[in-house]
Amino acid sequence: MDSFDLIVIGAGPGGYVCAIRAAQLGLKTALVEKDPALGGTCLNVGCIPSKALLESSELFHVMRHKAEPHGIAPASVKLDLPVMLARKDGIVRDLTDGIAVLMKKNKVTVLRGRGVLRGEGKVAVLSDGGEQEIAAKAVCLAMGSVPVQLPFMPFDGERIVSSTEALCFDKVPQHLAVIGAGAIGLEMGSVWNRLGAKVTVVELLPRVAPFADTQLSTLLERSLKAQGMVFRLGAKVTGAKVEGETVTLSLQNAKGEEEAITCDRVLVAVGRKPCTDTAGLQEAGVALEGGRVVVDEHFRTNVPGVYAIGDLIRGPMLAHKAEDEGVALAELLAGKPGHVNYDAIPNVVYTHPELACVGLTEEECKQKGLPVKVGKFYFKGNGRAKSLNEDEGLAKVVAHAETDRILGVHIFGARASDMIAEAVLAMEMKASAEDLARTCHAHPTLSEILKEAAMAVDKRAIHG
Ligand code: NAI
Repeated sequence: MDSFDLIVIGAGPGGYVCAIRAAQLGLKTALVEKDPALGGTCLNVGCIPSKALLESSELFHVMRHKAEPHGIAPASVKLDLPVMLARKDGIVRDLTDGIAVLMKKNKVTVLRGRGVLRGEGKVAVLSDGGEQEIAAKAVCLAMGSVPVQLPFMPFDGERIVSSTEALCFDKVPQHLAVIGAGAIGLEMGSVWNRLGAKVTVVELLPRVAPFADTQLSTLLERSLKAQGMVFRLGAKVTGAKVEGETVTLSLQNAKGEEEAITCDRVLVAVGRKPCTDTAGLQEAGVALEGGRVVVDEHFRTNVPGVYAIGDLIRGPMLAHKAEDEGVALAELLAGKPGHVNYDAIPNVVYTHPELACVGLTEEECKQKGLPVKVGKFYFKGNGRAKSLNEDEGLAKVVAHAETDRILGVHIFGARASDMIAEAVLAMEMKASAEDLARTCHAHPTLSEILKEAAMAVDKRAIHG
């Protein structure tokens, strides 16, 4: 039986990053993956292909609707959906192939098949070729998550679909209904709206991106409405009937009235659930709570030698959170002080404009009884935003009223996903709003918006 220091089950961003870091630290490491390509949901059917389509569809939208103010009148702009989808598939292929190369470079043994826990320190790898048993001092569970289905309208892969199928519709839907105004619903809704579909988003709660700062969530909703998306907020889907190519959704709207939506595709994006039922967790006695694997602060489950990271455990289901946990676990296993700062994990919705945040919102601070001062700065006061023709948006810095320490940063605007990195670093370094305000920022850049918002905490923004 082959024996390792560490076996990682699942080659998503949590698992493969954990395997690389462990190998760098000298641990003999195996990575077990059931799917043909490495990279998990994020690379194959999640973050990466959706960003490829978001970029392509935004370019299409810009050429059709936003070129004119620049003095550019494209003669004709035509959509070639197969080429757009092929570009996306090519990007995914390049990146997943790249991970296979990284595994070789770092001397990680990749085993193809489903990994199943078989008692202390043992894992069976099940594949068409049979069963192979391997052993290790430590096993890291990193199987990720799958989309949640609504019980009365299971996925059929054709009319009622998850994000996986919504990444490769062979033609633009006439009317796409999206259930759930979280990250997936808003991003995939944006893609197909830009490509010409009518898009109606149904959300149970009264606002879009409910996790976000209320003001920014309102601005995002307003912006997406102006782009043509339709919202039914505070509405509950009660049934779905598929007839040929048509789906009729029944819903109860915010006023309690019954409504029907007729569409040709429905994307159900109401969250994801951890993959806890395919790796023998129950038989091995791994404890779960609320569907997630229970771990302590060092990612240890209740079963000795078995660890878990990423979407399987508590915290936001985000690729970068899983990656950081993978690195931390590998370092802990190698006797180093690995850790993750859960107070400084950014969250981005890649709509246009983007929504990006880190730390606490003003509302959360109030709930916790933390005294705060808030600085705001609008994109329209920034020269670079004007020159980009992207002056919609707002950045907010939330700081402790007494210590001035930054507690949260919330940005709605073009390239917010890149701008938020500075705020994450500031929080990681326990910076004050004053620190951010006194840091020199290149002119003209969008990053000056964050500096001005930090200055506004002390009511001294220059251009606001
Ligand atoms: P989500 O949890 O972000 O949003 C689901 C939304 O559906 C919520 O607003 C919820 O109130 C609503 N909802 C739930 N049940 C409903 C119902 N019956 N009818 C109407 N609305 C209902 O989940 P989502 O968007 O599916 O994403 C899954 C996970 O993947 C999340 O953890 C998300 O953070 C992550 N993700 C992150 C992305 C990013 O960072 N840009 C992109 C895509 C996914």
